[in-house]
Order: sequence, then C-alpha cells, then structure tokens
Amino acid sequence: MKEKTVIVTGGAGVIGSHLVEYLVQRDYEVIVIDNLSAGRLENLPDYGKVFFYRRDVRDESLQNIYYRYKPFLLFHLAAHYANELSIKEPVYDLKVNTVGTLNQLNLAVKAGVKRFVYASTSCVYLPSVNPLEEESPLKPHTPYGISKLAGEYYTFFYAENYGLPVTVLRYFNVYGPKEANLQYRGVIPKIMAAALQDKPFTLTGSGDEARDFTFIKDAVKGTVLAAFSEKGVNQVFNIGTGRASSILEVINMLSELSGEKISIRYDERRKWDKTVYRLADIKKAHLLLGYEPEYELREGLKLTLDWYKDNLEFLN
Ligand SMILES: NC(=O)c1ccc[n+]([C@@H]2O[C@H](COP(=O)([O-])OP(=O)(O)OC[C@H]3O[C@@H](n4cnc5c(N)ncnc54)[C@H](O)[C@@H]3O)[C@@H](O)[C@H]2O)c1
Repeated sequence: MKEKTVIVTGGAGVIGSHLVEYLVQRDYEVIVIDNLSAGRLENLPDYGKVFFYRRDVRDESLQNIYYRYKPFLLFHLAAHYANELSIKEPVYDLKVNTVGTLNQLNLAVKAGVKRFVYASTSCVYLPSVNPLEEESPLKPHTPYGISKLAGEYYTFFYAENYGLPVTVLRYFNVYGPKEANLQYRGVIPKIMAAALQDKPFTLTGSGDEARDFTFIKDAVKGTVLAAFSEKGVNQVFNIGTGRASSILEVINMLSELSGEKISIRYDERRKWDKTVYRLADIKKAHLLLGYEPEYELREGLKLTLDWYKDNLEFLN
C-alpha cells in the first residue's frame, strides 16, 4: 500500500482532470483510468506523476493495475453523464454507472484500498423548494439519477459487508474550465457560447429555474477534504455552495462580464426535467470537514469566461 498513490477513474473528464491536477501538485502519484468516451487526454497535466490507462471501468482485468500500483485511495468519477444523455441511452447508462461502480468496488476490496470515494449527484434528490440536506428524500427522475443512486447503494453495501471505508459526494452543478459545450452537458458552456460566439441561447423553460452552481475548484476542495478526513468515512456529503441562482441571473451576469448581449430563444421545459429549484444545504460538510466554498458565482463565471476566451474550441 502506497500512501501517496491514488487511482482516479474518469480522470480525463472535467472534475477528474482538475482533481488529478490538484493531487499531482501535492506530490501524489496518480493513476488515471478513463476510456476517453467523454474525457480528453489533453485535460491531464503533463507532470510525469500521472499514469494513464485507456480502459473501461467495467473491465475486470483492471485488477492488474490495482495490484501493480497498490493505491491507497480510489476516486471513482467515471460515469455516463448526464440526465438527457441517459434518456437517450438508458441501458448503456445503467451498465457503466452500476456495473462499472460494482467492478471498482470489487477491485478496491481485493486490493485493500483504504478509501473508496464515489462521485454521486444532486439529481438523486426529490426536487424541493427548500435546501437539500443529505437526509432529504430521494427520488431521481432520470435513468442517470437512478443509476447514480444505485451506485450509492452498492457503495454502502460494500462498506457494510466488506468493511470498505467509503465516502459519497453529491455534487451540485459543477462548472468551470475544461468543460466542452456538448449537446447533453450543463448549461454554462451553452451560455458561454452564446456570449462569445454570438449564437442564440436556447432556454428550455422560463429562466427562473435555479441551481446551486459550484465552481470546479470548490468541488475539488470538497472532494479532497472528504476523501482524506477520517470524519468522511462512510458518510454522504453535499458538495455545493449553499446559494442558488436562476438561469436568467447567470445569463445577465455573463452578459455583463463579457460585455456582449446574449440573445435567448425560449423553448418548452423538457418533459423529464422536474427540477425547478435545487439548492444544497452544506452544513454537514462545513461542520465535519471544514468545507467552505471560496468562489462566488460572479468570480467563478469570470474565471471560466476568461478560460473559454483562450480555448474557444471547447465551445464548438
Ligand atoms: N459536472 C457536474 O456538474 C456533476 C454533477 C453531479 C455529479 N457529477 C458526477 O461527477 C463525475 C464526474 O463528472 P464530470 O462532470 O467530470 O463528467 P465527465 O463526463 O467530464 O467525466 C467522466 C469521465 O468518465 C469517463 N468515462 C465514461 N464512461 C467510462 C467508462 N465506461 N470507462 C472509463 N471511463 C469512462 C469519460 O471519458 C470522462 O472522462 C461523474 O461521476 C458525474 O456523475 C458531476
């Protein structure tokens, strides 16, 4: 067991690659497992301490990698992401998000990993106008939410039955550099494209829909605090900011920051989208881990906008 060696599945993705960067900067040896179905190799830092394996998380022969590196910790971030894509491909979504998670849990137990960190989502909650606590009712509305919640249950099954120490993180709308403007991904790259490339933004709803937008660096900070703290063992944490902003607020802010008018084309809310408002209660992460988000929405959006200006190809 090497205390400075960790595995990150999905490490070439948006959150994963920022996490990898954070870890290598702190001298961890990081093993990345990613099939590059959504991630990019260029997302990874070129530091010599990152070992990349282009493999599927469902592949049982990944055992060789576990035995070879003897990781101390596993961050399981690889997933079929997210809601709309899962409606298009529900069977594939189920396979990657549950079988992939089960396979990693099995390998982690066999290799004696000291902590299994599972990236879950705020989509597991029953929508509410109140801040969502970890104990709030669960009711996912999409195949993605269902498969991610199943992953949580499998994770706790392994904790209870095989003594694997686990931590489950429910991320709330993470945004920031390296997120490509893909058809089925989050809303922020789409608004960025409208601001920087003069494309109309299609708003599916009224614009009053609100989310707890979390800057990527805060998401990474919450992840690391939970993963390395004893208080994170066998716990679920919301990773958000504790503030909700509407889509229209984001559009107005980005319009101000970019100095560009953003033209909006209104469309009906998507039938599957039952979440008008979603806000994290982050008291638990604050009290147990000392988690404190640092980035106000305006600051996070400014940093993200500046990054897209230099990386316009991510908006195409
Ligand atoms: N971004 C968010 O706002 C958000 C919110 C809630 C939860 N999450 C969760 O956080 C995690 C990371 O999200 P992200 O935004 O970085 O997504 P992402 O799509 O950028 O990253 C996922 C990575 O997993 C890889 N991958 C997908 N299927 C794979 C497979 N079968 N085998 C190996 N690798 C595979 C992809 O190539 C990609 O690099 C996911 O588990 C997601 O469910 C993200």
